[in-house]
Amino acid sequence: MPRVLVTYATRYGSTAEIAAVIGRELADAGFEVDVLHAGPEIQVARYDAVVAGAPSYGRKWLPAAAVFVVSNRETLARMPVALFTVGTLGVKNPKSALREHNGIVATLSELAPGLEPVSTALFHGSFSRKNLPFLLKLLDWVAGTPQGDHRDWEAIRSWTHRVGELFTEAMGQASEAVEGEGPEASEDETG
Ligand SMILES: Cc1cc2nc3c(=O)[nH]c(=O)nc-3n(C[C@H](O)[C@H](O)[C@H](O)COP(=O)(O)O)c2cc1C
Repeated sequence: MPRVLVTYATRYGSTAEIAAVIGRELADAGFEVDVLHAGPEIQVARYDAVVAGAPSYGRKWLPAAAVFVVSNRETLARMPVALFTVGTLGVKNPKSALREHNGIVATLSELAPGLEPVSTALFHGSFSRKNLPFLLKLLDWVAGTPQGDHRDWEAIRSWTHRVGELFTEAMGQASEAVEGEGPEASEDETG
């Protein structure tokens, strides 16, 4: 059974809950899944595919997930990977949020050459003004960021379903390539 790692960073837990749902969906689709907070102890080479995600804070991924992707770039470049960003900017400003997400993916791709995600997604998160420092609370009160839990579980499940399909396709292509290489190489060698 193919092994999939779902790894995430989180500050207040909303991304961890999204990762848990992604993990359950992939397990239901027949993968063997671990859902783990991103960190240096994870042995990425034990997996056949990886889903990595993080909330956006100040237009950037939380560092634990970004550091995970960058420090495991060589291993991740050899397997199918899907990335997701969680944020609340998109609740009021979908275009700006998509630009922010695409910028994050572009930065990760620059820092981790060879990383070619099979899919990326941006999900609405959950926001409470009480989590902001005092001055930002005042600014945000003026900006009027929509508070509350905006997570769209249906969108998250539907993306995960597609990611499962893409992982299966990519793994099939990889094993066909390996099978294709073997006999030809030995024929060449034996003349
Ligand atoms: C200080 C602060 C900065 C944030 N910056 C952004 C941002 O730049 N873009 C965005 O879309 N959401 C932003 N958010 C919203 C968070 O991404 C959202 O609340 C997310 O669900 C938090 O995930 P977590 O509960 O896993 O920590 C910010 C929230 C806080 C408290």
